[in-house]
Amino acid sequence: MHDILPPEQKIRERIFNLARAVSGAYGFERIDTPHLEDTELFYAGVGRSTDVVSKQMYSFKTRGGDALTLRPEGTAPAARAFTQHAMWNLPQPVKLYYFGSFFRHESPQRGRFREFHQWGLELFGDEHAVADAEVIQIYSAFLHELGIKNFFVEVNSVGCKDCRSPYRAELIRYYRPKVKGLCRDCKERFSQNPLRLLDCLQEKCVMVKKNAPQMLDYLCEACKKHFALLLEFFEELSIPYVLNPHLVRGLDYYTRTVFEIYSEIKSAEKISAGPETNEQPASSIEQPVSSIRTGEEEDTETDFKKLALVSGGRYDGLVETVGGRATAAVGGALGVERLVFLVKARNIRVSEPAKPKVFLVQLGDLAKKKSLKLMEELRRSGVSMAESLGRDSIRSQLKIADRLGAEFALIIGQKEAIDGMVIVREMSSSIQETIPQIKLIETLKKKFRK
Ligand code: HAM
Repeated sequence: MHDILPPEQKIRERIFNLARAVSGAYGFERIDTPHLEDTELFYAGVGRSTDVVSKQMYSFKTRGGDALTLRPEGTAPAARAFTQHAMWNLPQPVKLYYFGSFFRHESPQRGRFREFHQWGLELFGDEHAVADAEVIQIYSAFLHELGIKNFFVEVNSVGCKDCRSPYRAELIRYYRPKVKGLCRDCKERFSQNPLRLLDCLQEKCVMVKKNAPQMLDYLCEACKKHFALLLEFFEELSIPYVLNPHLVRGLDYYTRTVFEIYSEIKSAEKISAGPETNEQPASSIEQPVSSIRTGEEEDTETDFKKLALVSGGRYDGLVETVGGRATAAVGGALGVERLVFLVKARNIRVSEPAKPKVFLVQLGDLAKKKSLKLMEELRRSGVSMAESLGRDSIRSQLKIADRLGAEFALIIGQKEAIDGMVIVREMSSSIQETIPQIKLIETLKKKFRK
């Protein structure tokens, strides 16, 4: 745990301001949950056999005899709050964001703290793959806007409870004759939670993992379709991604999509965050990039290491696990300290967020897909933009556009999506015209000049 001194506060403030603006632009509303929760929440929600719960929690008994834990992460608390306040009665999806500190008893290393901060996004009540793409897109857009280059998304599907059990059986069959050669933790993982075997970074276990069966080969039809759709969204958005068939993440609540966003750092790059005195030798969060790309490549490229900035995924069963109604959900969290590392190391000037010039309004599946493509074009052309992809009511989307002070709303319904057109509506006068999508950037630039 460390002090955050004035020079770093400025960077953090700018990161928070931008994160707040981006969260708001995408229709996320802030939630704060307590630092302390019933220990049982993390046992049930995150999983007793995960490292986070079994090894890293700060847990204690109060004088009154309650078993409490300093929150090690924010998703289980958000699902608890969603349930406790019966948020399924609200219009879905419910989109929540948070900033806050989290606590894990980790071995102190560079980039791994015992108290650290996250900017989290949790989207409840949308099972469509577009919601997964939206969360990843928000973090990507945020990192771009902040000036972080060379980051990439690693993605995998861990399936649902139906397709996971045959996979689990296959994994056990593969590992059984090899258990003796694994590290002590993995021997335990084998008997308690075999999926976690794929998490291990110990060299001898990584070697065994290389030929392990892959979840993607065991996905049921519905999970396969969900994953294929997500990859289509990535293509539409030109989000560079790497398929890592062994990415499982260290928390048990995930279903279907799991992702991590990494930045590449040169091994020689001097990275520091927090007081200089906290500096430790290179840590396990910085792994050679070549070793994580597919899990099968040789370690030929040792000059670069990876730093996980954002991680997350879908967790369709969590709300029910913590006592609520079955609710599909997806989210992610960005590690603030790790981002501060990069911003400092690369001397990035973090600018204040500006008002979006345009707001993208869409209606229907096809329009959502076209919108993702347009969003990327707008971003590349330097047009500041916001949208609320999860919403389907034009009125509520126009309301958000108005609240954000956007000059123009770009509207794509089913008809426009098919015809390759877009409606450009001036927010102040409500005057609108329909133009071909390929002429959009040119038209907007003319309008901005007026
Ligand atoms: P997580 O991977 O445990 O996921 O943490 C998310 C991010 O927090 C990591 O990618 C990393 O940047 C940062 N982080 C984690 N542990 C530390 C640490 N000890 N010191 C510094 N930074 C750290 C979760 O917490 C999930 N709740 C994410 C999520 C949200 N999934 C769905 N919704």
